[in-house]
Amino acid sequence: MVENSQVQVVEKPTPAALNRFVKPVDINKLVAQYGTPLYLIDEDTLHAKAKELHSAYSKFNGPVKVAYSIKANFTPAVIKTFMKDGLTFDLTSLGELYFIRQCKADPENVIYTSVTEEQEEYIEVLQSGVRRVVVSSFNGMTNLAAAASKVGSRPLTMIRVNPEVGVKAEVRASYRNGKFGVPFNGGTIDSATKMVKHLMGSDLLKFEGFHFHLGSQITDFSCYTHALDKMDAFMTKMKKENPAFQVNTFDIGGGTPVFYNDPVPTPAQMAENHVGKLNQLAETHGTYTLMIESGRFLVAESSMLVSRIVNTKEYNEHKIVIVDAGYHILLDAALLKQEYPQEVVPVVNSKDKATSLAPVKNTHLAGRLCDTYDVFPISKVSDLNESEVGRYISFYNVGAYSVVFNMPFHCQTKPPIVMKNSDGDFRLVRKGTTYEHLFREEGGELE
Ligand SMILES: Cc1ncc(COP(=O)(O)O)c(C=O)c1O
Repeated sequence: MVENSQVQVVEKPTPAALNRFVKPVDINKLVAQYGTPLYLIDEDTLHAKAKELHSAYSKFNGPVKVAYSIKANFTPAVIKTFMKDGLTFDLTSLGELYFIRQCKADPENVIYTSVTEEQEEYIEVLQSGVRRVVVSSFNGMTNLAAAASKVGSRPLTMIRVNPEVGVKAEVRASYRNGKFGVPFNGGTIDSATKMVKHLMGSDLLKFEGFHFHLGSQITDFSCYTHALDKMDAFMTKMKKENPAFQVNTFDIGGGTPVFYNDPVPTPAQMAENHVGKLNQLAETHGTYTLMIESGRFLVAESSMLVSRIVNTKEYNEHKIVIVDAGYHILLDAALLKQEYPQEVVPVVNSKDKATSLAPVKNTHLAGRLCDTYDVFPISKVSDLNESEVGRYISFYNVGAYSVVFNMPFHCQTKPPIVMKNSDGDFRLVRKGTTYEHLFREEGGELE
């Protein structure tokens, strides 16, 4: 069913905006081998993004660490690529910890920020050698202390603060009475003020610093300015109340944006907004390690999804193009109306050229699912001319929050993932799943 889709006028693409790391001839070879839909990842882009984000903060007067939020893409090949860059890993669950351990990442390079914060969970985290933990509630802190006492380690404990600032982004993580972190003051026990006091006197936990995370795909950076101003005032108050108060690590979370539809500021421009304030905090309150978290920016532009056009139809002036992808493999297209740039893959061989190539203005790109929301918003830089049955369509910048949300709606299988290595070779890094596999997973063999 295709309902609710808006009329989209396809404009000319801006070639510089898209990372075309695989030539059409190679796309043809890869789909002949692996079929469609097919995710492709570029190792070089992953390295380049890690470097770009780190160097954006080069004007900070102190050590800078970039932490990759593996929730954005936990493909082991991606984790291993970032291990080569020496990144820290931002983890949120024991499942993610399992992945990191299987990849043999150093637990010293982990920052663990849980939402559930259970004692049993923390025992496993500490037993695995992780030392840096972010707590988000008084209960969580108590559970961590109990776990520390059982395991016999003294974790470096950071407090996740909710600075309660307005964030102009689709995904906001800081808002009044929100689920993440604690306010500066508030609740009977759940406040950063009370937790700092408690941590300063704890033999089981060592106070390390603060963490906040404001949201994702943030292009208006005033929220960072406001949050840092509030942190400044709070730290001044803490120092007055506890002379030994010292922040060793300050983590300003994720949010670095990527290109989908409109140009976005670069990490360097983003850093320019608040590096002065971060330096002033270091001058006023003592030097600290700055931690920058990122999921989206580090992985989004490294990946594309190749799909095949399986059907087309026309309604008056409109053309509906149906591909063998859907929101089951690009969830944010439905959830956040993400405008992934799309492009019809040029034909390699002129004899394969489609016959009807007249540009069609009102093209709607629809997925294979029988669901109203399975219609892909079209980016301003998309080029869907030549959308004919049998041609391939590439979706660009899909590396973040897509693979991790793959779901079997309509008994759909997971596509394979192929990585283009830095040496130019392609290698399969995730096998696609099969109907047999899915049937088993859903309990078919138990019946
Ligand atoms: C605590 C935390 N840090 C970092 C991130 C990564 O955010 P982004 O992918 O926008 O950089 C998230 C995403 O949800 C998060 O929850």
